[in-house]
Amino acid sequence: MSDAPTVTRPAPGEIAPPLALLAELTHRCPLRCPYCSNPLELDRASRELSTEEWKRVFSEAAALGVLQVHFSGGEPTARRDIVELVAHAAKVGLYTNLITSGVLLDHDNTAALASAGLDHVQLSFQDTDAANADRIAGLDKAHRKKLAAAKLIRDAGLPLTLNAVMHRQNLDRLPEMIELAVALGAQRLEVAHVQYYGWALQNRRALFPTYEALERATEIVEAARARLKGVLTIDYVVPDYYARRPKACMGGWARQFINISPAGKALPCHAAETLPGFDWPSIKTTSLRDVWYGSEAFNRYRGTAWMPEPCRSCDRREIDWGGCRCQAFEFTGDASRTDPACALAPDRSILDAARADALGPATEFVYRQIGGAPAR
Ligand code: SF4
Ligand code: FES
Repeated sequence: MSDAPTVTRPAPGEIAPPLALLAELTHRCPLRCPYCSNPLELDRASRELSTEEWKRVFSEAAALGVLQVHFSGGEPTARRDIVELVAHAAKVGLYTNLITSGVLLDHDNTAALASAGLDHVQLSFQDTDAANADRIAGLDKAHRKKLAAAKLIRDAGLPLTLNAVMHRQNLDRLPEMIELAVALGAQRLEVAHVQYYGWALQNRRALFPTYEALERATEIVEAARARLKGVLTIDYVVPDYYARRPKACMGGWARQFINISPAGKALPCHAAETLPGFDWPSIKTTSLRDVWYGSEAFNRYRGTAWMPEPCRSCDRREIDWGGCRCQAFEFTGDASRTDPACALAPDRSILDAARADALGPATEFVYRQIGGAPAR
């Protein structure tokens, strides 16, 4: 039973449909990245939704007005039915994007995905130095396979985005990462500093960069954006911990995105499963429409009525929506507090203290694994 507060449900027409559905098809993955955004408790293969259940989700998403589906994981190509799922999503009219490590792609499955109607691929890279990339991924020869995957994707005629997660153990090679994206024929590069949830939070002292390193990285990105205009688009995500105002996490709670876990839990973001006191609806028993418009969990932090001060009377309340609920919980134990990434937050001093992690020696990685993180 949930000890959920009473919330006001929106009137029909008051809430826009989600723009995108993040389909976490599986938590299985050959890589073990220490900043993985999956929860510490990973879903086992036996709990995964069936092919027919996923197809129903995609049909319901299209009927609801969702525009895009992101196939994610874990490693989505670890699902044997990935081509069938992409084909179904494309058939019902969704824009399809595959977010992959690339290590399971070969000529045949890449060509089959393209024929099934896949619109776009996001391929992750851990570093440009092969040995360090494999160390971060926790998988031998991963980097070599990713280089081959990039070629397969381009040869299949698919548009490519490189995803580069940056942190203190690869930030020095940001210029090389930008050159790699150009050399591999990517149209877009996402340079994303690690966000500290789940596994990344366990590894914060191994990953968190200094402010000076962040500033240098920002200058490099800005110079590259000017130099590569028309060649490569660079998206840039900075770590919240150095911000004065928080990000509008997921574009605001239950405003733009709906996340489905491998076992079928519907969530407003990938990290929400860690929040206590919620009855997350299951798409096995609840339609996507009822999840989006009717569930208490999706309505709890929607809009501004739930906000405490200083958000309630702040002129940014409909810009950042009070920041990230999961980060507020992580720092304060209460998801309804103002995100401490905001300099106005009453709990800001907790985040100030956490920044000290950048100054100490980097710790060993705790790699992502089934069964959760070992006690340290
Ligand atoms: Fe955003 Fe709240 Fe900070 Fe205002 S007080 S900037 S709404 S987090
Ligand atoms: Fe859950 Fe920000 S990650 S609201």
